Amino acid sequence: MDIPFRLNGEDTTVTCSDPTMTLLDWLRESRGLMGTKEGCNEGDCGACSVIVTGADGQAKALNACILFLPQLAGKSVRTVEGVVAPDGTLHPVQQAMIDHHGSQCGFCTPGFVTTMAAAHANGATDHEDQIAGNLCRCTGYAPILRAAKTAQQAPVPAHMAELPVSASQILESEHHHPRGADELAAWYLENPDATLVAGATDVGLWVTKQFRPLGKLAFLAGCDDLKGVKITEDEISLGAMCDMETLRHAMAPHFASFSELLRRYGSVQVRNAATLGGNIANGSPIGDSPPALIALGATLHLRRGETRRSMPLEAYFLEYGKQDRQPGEFVERVTIPRQADTLVCHKLSKRFDQDISAVCGAFNLTVEDGTITAARVAFGGMAGTPKRAAATEAALTGKPFGAATLAEAAKSLARDFSPLSDMRASANYRLHAAEGMLRRLADPAPSILKVRA
Ligand SMILES: Cc1cc2nc3c(=O)[nH]c(=O)nc-3n(C[C@H](O)[C@H](O)[C@H](O)COP(=O)(O)OP(=O)(O)OC[C@H]3O[C@@H](n4cnc5c(N)ncnc54)[C@H](O)[C@@H]3O)c2cc1C
Ligand code: FES
Ligand code: FES
Repeated sequence: MDIPFRLNGEDTTVTCSDPTMTLLDWLRESRGLMGTKEGCNEGDCGACSVIVTGADGQAKALNACILFLPQLAGKSVRTVEGVVAPDGTLHPVQQAMIDHHGSQCGFCTPGFVTTMAAAHANGATDHEDQIAGNLCRCTGYAPILRAAKTAQQAPVPAHMAELPVSASQILESEHHHPRGADELAAWYLENPDATLVAGATDVGLWVTKQFRPLGKLAFLAGCDDLKGVKITEDEISLGAMCDMETLRHAMAPHFASFSELLRRYGSVQVRNAATLGGNIANGSPIGDSPPALIALGATLHLRRGETRRSMPLEAYFLEYGKQDRQPGEFVERVTIPRQADTLVCHKLSKRFDQDISAVCGAFNLTVEDGTITAARVAFGGMAGTPKRAAATEAALTGKPFGAATLAEAAKSLARDFSPLSDMRASANYRLHAAEGMLRRLADPAPSILKVRA
């Protein structure tokens, strides 16, 4: 497979004999570009961050360690070596990092610089969120945040603009690169044993950590028709290839708490890659989007060839490791009925940023004249699948909204769930945490971000 893309302003085509070659390995081993560092090799530390710009012209920070070369077809990649201007003038974030002493040992610095340069290109000023996926063990974050703040006033240097790249000359091999849902549907029907690669934030780790041979692959990065968010009077339709950062912004005006939950999904780099389809299709019991979507009454739309079927999202998750999906069938989209914003989401994890949920609860109660007239409650991390809390919902419905009802209904959670103990939390802790989340609906505690010593 030949992959055309642009690297630091120069067109390049890589003949890719191993489609699971990561951008990080290729940069360092084949191009000698050593600025992009390998820390964790699993998307957690940001040392390998690069800037990737697609056809929409938006610069995105991504982790090169879990980015396969075929995912780059038709895109522009900028590493730390390409952030400096051709005449050697430092990028404003580089200069600000020097001025504010933002680097000590320097191992993390290229990753910070690329992440900050992507944020700078987008005019982002939520610096704490932007660098939450970059780990620095020696400098401390205050000087780095000061640098980001200083640089935000400088204009984006002209050399950072990326022109569109043509992906038309991708040469197919047994690894497929569909240009849309129709092409994917036809190919997957013929090749049901293939692995689909969406954002590769799961699949990437199968390669870098488990050294798993993946066999036949289809890279969905070129399926632009699966990326859209469409809002009508009745529903919000989300394509399977909608990435988590796009979803976060799309949800903000409709379901503020869901958007806030997604702010804590991985990091900017992970959210820029991870897709909604992948977060559902993998059937993980601790994926963050399913509980919120289930509580919103979302419908999952699957497609196999020309055959489509739909189901309530919760029906897709049959048991741990088992989903209602046929060979050759893929997630095409998810729809959410338009409704008032009554959703409340809680994510409990050991760290605020960049951590997987121990328990994730989503609560959607309709209260009319003080009475709970409808309740949809769903949890992640409490069972082998994301799951609705049927007994708890029944205990809430028809009761007056208030602390007493919530405390009484919380007792039903033990009938709905028998959680497991694992490295993230014990079964007992999970159950108590879920009860606390439900009780908190009557008396929302202040945001932990607003608590200052
Ligand atoms: C550092 C890090 C942090 C993370 N943090 C979080 C977090 O906070 N919350 C959370 O929920 N998850 C988190 N994850 C997990 C991961 O981001 C999600 O599971 C992600 O949504 C997977 O989506 P993807 O597009 O990357 O899928 P991929 O890795 O490309 O694919 C995952 C699986 O889904 C299948 N698949 C993908 N798209 C489709 C489709 N359209 N139809 C059918 N099958 C499909 C693939 O074949 C594969 O089996 C994290 C991962 C990393 C590496
Ligand atoms: S090396 Fe740590 S995120 Fe890539
Ligand atoms: S400067 Fe040493 S890890 Fe950040």
